Amino acid sequence: MTAHRGVVSVLCHERSRRVIQPVGEDNFDRAVQFLIEWVSDGEPAAREHLADHATGGGASLIAVRNNNVIGIVTIRWQSNYAGFRDHGIPLVHQIAVAGPSRRLGVATLLMDAAEGLARDGGIMTLGITVGLFDEYGPAQRLYALRGYVPRGEELESTERRGILVSKIAEGRC
Ligand SMILES: CC(C)(COP(=O)(O)OP(=O)(O)OC[C@H]1O[C@@H](n2cnc3c(N)ncnc32)[C@H](O)[C@@H]1OP(=O)(O)O)[C@@H](O)C(=O)NCCC(=O)NCCS
Repeated sequence: MTAHRGVVSVLCHERSRRVIQPVGEDNFDRAVQFLIEWVSDGEPAAREHLADHATGGGASLIAVRNNNVIGIVTIRWQSNYAGFRDHGIPLVHQIAVAGPSRRLGVATLLMDAAEGLARDGGIMTLGITVGLFDEYGPAQRLYALRGYVPRGEELESTERRGILVSKIAEGRC
């Protein structure tokens, strides 16, 4: 899986061409800053999140508007969760949109691009884990409406229970 493939993937969607970019050397620090502000617990965790991208372990896409990063999503090609890993299902995780930019379709664009990136690599199923509590209500609805369904396996998270969901990626471009 190469960064070049990611670029080709996101270019296939006119709206994505304007705002979705794969994370690479040129925008790496801006992605780190977004993670620090909205996702990660400090800079070391933010850099660790992106660390395997150079060796092909994962890929991230950012949403950019007016030169500001307003969202991110990451794919790990080999999930830590056995329920996905054992079936060759990559993990989509840490999707996040900056508070002021939510409910404007940004996560939808990021998910479109992530699914396109997977399809370009011949991957037809993606997995997501989502917490079963209020904080993740928007994400639960986002995934359900895109066709991600529970696999009937529960995930024991560090705090509360979550579920594994997956879907067959469909062509959208
Ligand atoms: C979940 C999240 C990424 C959604 O981002 P977003 O850009 O606002 O999502 P979109 O605008 O693309 O919304 C797509 C759909 O998701 C659902 N959705 C999004 N936010 C919602 C909310 N607050 N309440 C109910 N449904 C919501 C809706 O069905 C929405 O479609 P609609 O607006 O046409 O009804 C964002 O709320 C976020 O960053 N949350 C914090 C991080 C998080 O929980 N990540 C998920 C980890 S598993």
